[in-house]
Amino acid sequence: MKKIFAAFLLAGLAASAALVANGILPLTAASAAQGGIADNELDPAVWGKQYPDQYKLWKQTESPSPTGKSKYKRGSLTDRITYDKLSEFPYMALLFNGWGFGSEYNEPRGHAYMVRDQLEIDASRLKAGGVCLTCKTPYAPKLRKEMGAEYYKQPFHDVLNRIPEKNRTLGVACSDCHNNQDMSLRISRTFTLTPALKDIGKNSDKLTDKETQSVICAQCHVTYTIEKDKDMKSVGLFFPWQGSKWGNISIENIIKKIRRNPAYEEWKPGVTGYKLGYIRHPEFEMFSNNSIHWSAGVSCVDCHMPPTTVDGRSVTDHRVMSPLNNNMKACAQCHKQSPEWLWGQVIAIQDRVVSLMLRSGYATATVAKLLEQTHKLQAEGKQIDKNLYEKAKYYYIEAFYRCNFIGAENSVGFHNPTEALRILGDATAFATKAEALLRQALAQAGVNVPLKVDLELNKYLDNRGQKKLKFRPEQEFKDPTGVQINF
Ligand code: HEC
Ligand code: HEC
Ligand code: HEC
Ligand code: HEC
Repeated sequence: MKKIFAAFLLAGLAASAALVANGILPLTAASAAQGGIADNELDPAVWGKQYPDQYKLWKQTESPSPTGKSKYKRGSLTDRITYDKLSEFPYMALLFNGWGFGSEYNEPRGHAYMVRDQLEIDASRLKAGGVCLTCKTPYAPKLRKEMGAEYYKQPFHDVLNRIPEKNRTLGVACSDCHNNQDMSLRISRTFTLTPALKDIGKNSDKLTDKETQSVICAQCHVTYTIEKDKDMKSVGLFFPWQGSKWGNISIENIIKKIRRNPAYEEWKPGVTGYKLGYIRHPEFEMFSNNSIHWSAGVSCVDCHMPPTTVDGRSVTDHRVMSPLNNNMKACAQCHKQSPEWLWGQVIAIQDRVVSLMLRSGYATATVAKLLEQTHKLQAEGKQIDKNLYEKAKYYYIEAFYRCNFIGAENSVGFHNPTEALRILGDATAFATKAEALLRQALAQAGVNVPLKVDLELNKYLDNRGQKKLKFRPEQEFKDPTGVQINF
């Protein structure tokens, strides 16, 4: 560790010495500030007049990935195919059946697409209302302020239409990350992130520069819970971090929080019928939970927005993307190995994680089908041991949220490999325990369950949503270790 740090320091000093020798000072956002961006100016094209280099790079989040080297995150590849997460991981179609994520669920792509993708996706995904715009438009803080609580529950399109037409489909904008006066990094989602940081004992006014470089991404790359009223209308939004600490937001505490209150249950799964909460893209939670890079002081920006040049000028790469699609340039700031070696390390981690995702995912899906069968028998008047059943139900939900967490986390384990494997190991244990309990309960009731439970996957994979989406077998990820031949 010490050696690597010494190497960073030397590299850093050499780089700044070279820049100073060229008459260019190393840049921070604040030192580059020229002032003069009007308050409330949200249009990046206007900011871009003063900062054309960053604007030019930022615009490129619209373009397909330059190399297409990513194995598991293919959302921005050059072939312009939509990558369907439910075809990649078919067990998810069964687990999420019953609401938007089970109808259409695609891999992410560039920042420019965030509202455009919402307009293209199955309408069931927008049912929660205006609340869905919170991480999708720079107008969210303004709308929340103007509309108060109505912002959450009004229909999605009614809230979207309040945004001036020319800016309605903007991607992540300059104002989401920068203060218009001095260009310093700042939190714009003060109504969601600031209280969440407070919950984990962190004062948002006292962040170091490095911490800020991760926290600006945590405005959106975090899980959130939409609170519902009795009519299932959205009445609020928060990050379920209560009980956790800065540097250790745990899956256990997130599950505890969600399970505590029926108002946090957002949907009703088709197969089991249990109302559940849902976990979305928990990149910040996973990365900041004592990962090796987090504890070494590395930030999201180090890997996703490394330094680059525009016409010979040194700037921060505002084309936010996967480091695999950028020839591992970000990693090379600190690691002296070749891009191929670094790429191989990422893939080795992701292959192991995908193998365990499949194992725990199919184990959990099997339990869902056994629960479905049990419910049918109960409805027909069969007596099922209550104690065994209640335990199985409890373990099933524990397994479900763990599969949900890692499946939604967008690095396929890289952000925190040991934590990803721990969570998936626990998910598998909860699911297999639940399966054993249900088999015992069913056997006691005289029901013979076959060794191989039919998951009826086609039922969940085909004819999904308004678009009648179908399974795309060519997109499926098979176990890369080849161990699991028969689920
Ligand atoms: C996702 C967050 C994010 C967005 C969106 C964003 N920036 Fe930045 N910007 C950064 C980060 C991170 C830095 C690095 C400096 C730092 O950490 O203080 C930076 C640095 C800068 C700098 C300082 C010079 C440099 O390149 O390092 C300028 C000027 C700048 N940004 C302008 C813009 C403009 C103009 C836009 C919109 C077109 C924009 N930024 C959008 C995060 C963002
Ligand atoms: C205002 C909300 C917001 C902020 C702030 C934000 N993101 Fe994103 N990000 C998104 C959304 C939404 C998507 C998915 C867009 C889509 O697929 O339509 C995304 C996608 C991405 C992707 C995938 C890009 C691709 O080409 O596939 C990466 C990588 C990423 N974000 C990293 C970051 C990092 C790093 C930061 C902080 C410097 C950050 N984001 C800040 C909302 C945000
Ligand atoms: C040490 C480097 C590193 C750090 C730090 C890091 N990431 Fe990543 N991130 C990666 C790698 C590697 C991937 C996997 C990319 C792939 O498979 O193509 C990834 C994937 C992603 C993706 C999905 C990209 C895609 O193309 O779909 C998002 C979004 C993302 N990271 C956001 C973040 C956020 C937010 C943070 C901070 C909380 C962060 N990352 C910190 C290296 C890093
Ligand atoms: C800002 C510096 C920095 C950046 C950028 C960075 N790393 Fe690291 N990385 C570190 C440090 C520090 C360690 C811990 C090193 C040690 O203790 O040997 C580390 C450790 C690792 C490890 C070993 C982890 C383990 O669990 O054993 C791998 C693999 C790795 N990095 C890959 C990458 C890849 C791939 C990228 C780019 C996507 C990257 N790193 C970007 C600083 C960085």
